[in-house]
Amino acid sequence: MNLLLCGEWDDAERDTWAEALRMALSPRDRLLLRRGEVDDALIDAVITANPPPGSLAGLSGLRLIQSLWAGVDRLLLDETVPHELPIARMVDPAMNAAMAETVLWAVLSLHRGFFDCADRQRAGVWQPVLQVLACEVPVLVLGFGQMGRSAASGLARQGYPVSAWSRQPSAHVVPGVRRRHGEAGLKDAIAKACIVVNLLPLTAATRGILGQPLFDRLPEGASIVNLARGAHLLEADLLRALDSGRVHRAVLDVFHTEPLPAGHPFWDHPRITVLPHVAAQTDLRSAAAVALANIDALAQGAPLANLVSRELGY
Ligand code: NAP
Ligand code: GLV
Repeated sequence: MNLLLCGEWDDAERDTWAEALRMALSPRDRLLLRRGEVDDALIDAVITANPPPGSLAGLSGLRLIQSLWAGVDRLLLDETVPHELPIARMVDPAMNAAMAETVLWAVLSLHRGFFDCADRQRAGVWQPVLQVLACEVPVLVLGFGQMGRSAASGLARQGYPVSAWSRQPSAHVVPGVRRRHGEAGLKDAIAKACIVVNLLPLTAATRGILGQPLFDRLPEGASIVNLARGAHLLEADLLRALDSGRVHRAVLDVFHTEPLPAGHPFWDHPRITVLPHVAAQTDLRSAAAVALANIDALAQGAPLANLVSRELGY
């Protein structure tokens, strides 16, 4: 089969991916690094990382888009991708583990006041922060999928009272995690949350969820951790909530525009921590194996794994 590798990469990054994939590639398959190497109609599958809109247009023989990213919101919004074409997203335990580490770091740092200590260091101020026990800091995780379950489990093991929110009632039991779903579940959990961690997919239903209506329902001085997508957050609402003290701090890994533009108010806001979209990066080795297992399934006519629902948007 002809497999096209395509993403928003520089040449060095693309070559690193190509090397990782070629090491595990079946002799049956050929990896193409650019269009034009064979006729477009002969490309069977695309292995891709968040491709720019329009970059897969015109591949008339395509049978699978295998994403190297977990979130496929950009692909789903690309009108040039035929709606009947299967899209598989990346599901990789290595990525879940990386996300759980980032969430634990953010929650621990917020709870223990370590971001405040860093500010005080820069100001040359020696002033201890108040210590509160983990069991006194309720954390709400929005999204109880691959990332949410891994993150919630790590937080619960650390002693935080954890609630996790999903669309439907979840069958996944994670010790120490209270499962919530739907509007009523969110309303109840949000009123008690000291820290909200967003790990939802970006869909029509979740776009803008981190906005004033949600902030107004939080206890005064709660913090927000957004590690999912920039468009979940209404930026002006966050700035207002920080200024009024309703929200104490925000840790943000994802933004409406990436890279975050120079001069954006988030860059030097004293109570925003900016990460450059690194909460859970795709691990080359494990992700190459996951992607190629699906290519094998395609070649053998076996069921494809990790398919996205166009209807649900994730
Ligand atoms: P996933 O396995 O599909 O899980 C999605 C979860 O969100 C599910 O629990 C789902 O509920 C819930 N959900 C969806 N729509 C909802 C709604 N309207 N109301 C309430 N809950 C809703 O996704 P994942 O692999 O955990 O990834 C989540 C997101 O993380 C990705 O889409 C991506 O945007 C982001 N991400 C970011 C990074 C980074 O480095 N910053 C890395 C990887 C992923 P059900 O269980 O009921 O279906
Ligand atoms: C990264 O943001 C991903 O969706 O994999």
